[in-house]
Amino acid sequence: MKNTSRLFSTALAAVFLGLSLVLTPVGHAADGGLKSLRGAEIQAPDTESADPFKNAKDSAPIERNYVQQPPLIPHKSDGYTVTKNFNKCMDCHAWNRYKETGATKVSLTHFKTRDGQELSNISPRRYFCQQCHVSQADAKPLVANQFAPAQGMR
Ligand code: HEC
Ligand code: HEC
Repeated sequence: MKNTSRLFSTALAAVFLGLSLVLTPVGHAADGGLKSLRGAEIQAPDTESADPFKNAKDSAPIERNYVQQPPLIPHKSDGYTVTKNFNKCMDCHAWNRYKETGATKVSLTHFKTRDGQELSNISPRRYFCQQCHVSQADAKPLVANQFAPAQGMR
């Protein structure tokens, strides 16, 4: 009996500790901890000037930074819409289109469902291309980094 009640109070303490962690506010901008990238308070309304929209130029495929990287889109993609009924990307990247369009055909991996079934067309989990593939602009990185591919995979 004594043991069960001790167990119970320990469990209760754990729950309260968990709750207090969850309830602790995360924004530390005011005390110099976290800073927002746009250089204003997190809650502040939009700053008056936004960066001008940078247009991506069409170019040759971009070298990949690591083995499983979804290749970056080397052409502009604004206006290329993907809806329930139509996928503009597949207009050029489908296996029955790539020869005439000169695009890279979508990877065979893109036909596989999450259960490993091979479909004859793009798998639903790969349907929304821009979930993984993004156009590139020649812009200053917001956050510096020193990423380098693993030795032996360069
Ligand atoms: C009008 C045809 C066309 C459309 C539409 C199109 N692409 Fe492309 N894409 C190309 C061509 C051509 C290339 C080859 C590089 C080049 O010439 O720009 C390419 C290259 C790529 C690559 C690089 C492949 C590699 O091997 O590095 C990716 C990724 C890509 N496109 C994704 C997309 C996505 C995502 C969409 C839809 C938002 C899309 N493309 C729509 C024609 C197209
Ligand atoms: C869930 C993430 C994801 C989605 C969604 C996705 N891709 Fe990919 N894609 C990848 C990855 C990762 C690779 C590289 C490895 C591979 O080939 O599977 C790739 C590779 C490619 C390649 C290069 C193929 C090659 O032979 O080098 C093309 C082209 C491409 N994808 C186009 C598309 C198009 C078009 C769509 C939408 C219809 C799409 N992808 C959706 C992750 C994704």
